[in-house]
This record gives sequence, C-alpha cells and structure tokens, in this order.
Amino acid sequence: MTKGLRVLFLAFLSVGVISCGGGGGDSGGGGGEDVTPTVSFSASVQPIFTTNCVSCHAPGGVGAVLDLRSGLSYANLVGVPAAVTGTPPSGTLVVAGDHSSSVLYQRITGDGLAAVEDIMPQGLPQLSSTDKDTIENWIDQGAANN
Ligand code: HEC
Repeated sequence: MTKGLRVLFLAFLSVGVISCGGGGGDSGGGGGEDVTPTVSFSASVQPIFTTNCVSCHAPGGVGAVLDLRSGLSYANLVGVPAAVTGTPPSGTLVVAGDHSSSVLYQRITGDGLAAVEDIMPQGLPQLSSTDKDTIENWIDQGAANN
C-alpha cells in the first residue's frame, strides 16, 4: 500500500517536472526571458485539442469547418480568418501575441461572444482554467509552431 502510493506520488511528480521543464533535451534553445515558462504547441496545446475538440473538429464531424487534428491544426489557426462570420465570434482564429483578439480564445472562454452557445467545446463542460491559461500563454508568447 505505502509502496503503491509512493510510486503514484513519484509518477505525479515527474509529470509535473516534464510539463514545467519546457523540454530539457530538445534543441537547448529557450531560456528564461519570460516569467511564464515557454508553452510548446505540440507538447501542451495540441493535446488539449486532441482530447477535447477533434471528436467534432475533424472531417465528418459537426465542427469539420475547423480541422484541429494533430499536424493540421496549427496551419488552420494562426492568422486564419474564422469561417463563422457575422455576430461575434468573427475575426481571426489566432492573432499571434494577442489572446483577447483571437477567436480561438474567445470561443473557449466566452469573452466577447454574443451567445453562450458559441462556447467550445460546444454543449460540453468548459476547459479547465489550466488549459485556458495554456492556450492564452501560447498565443501571447507569439503562437509559435514549437
Ligand atoms: C460537440 C462538438 C464540438 C466540440 C467537442 C468542439 N466544437 Fe468547436 N465547433 C463546433 C461546431 C458545430 C462549430 C461551428 C458552429 C459554431 O460556430 O458554433 C464549431 C466552431 C468552432 C470554432 C469557430 C471556427 C471558425 O472558423 O469560425 C472554433 C474556434 C472552435 N469551434 C473551437 C473549438 C475548440 C478549441 C474545441 C475544443 C476545446 C472545440 N471547438 C470543441 C462543434 C464542436
């Protein structure tokens, strides 16, 4: 029992270290200019889409207008005009460096939306505040394909 708990605790700890570490072994780049650790699109943002969004946002899904599958989502988001126009939300899906002008961010928080039904994931519980913060920070850090 105690041993099992200890293993669990260690597993939990290492998950924390990996997600905060900003990818130690990779290219060695990044280095502490920001107070907020650099958010990796592939390691931190895409998994949010894969878990919460691609059930609809892929070909054949009701949200097929925006394909959020891994490997495709970035090119469909950054600097791309929203397909849905007219009442808010409309505009650019991701405006690099400016989360509040990004339709993606407006859609996951409700900020600036005309109707609550427009919040994503549609008809489902909202993303956790951690996930919202991850996307906000990624956009504000320049929405890199990192
Ligand atoms: C249950 C299905 C469903 C899920 C899950 C879902 N969406 Fe959507 N989404 C839709 C539909 C349908 C539309 C188009 C209608 C509308 O604008 O509300 C849409 C539209 C959008 C748009 C606007 C696209 C454009 O070009 O105008 C964005 C951005 C978006 N979703 C983001 C997300 C994100 C991010 C997630 C996951 C956190 C998500 N959605 C999860 C169904 C879904």
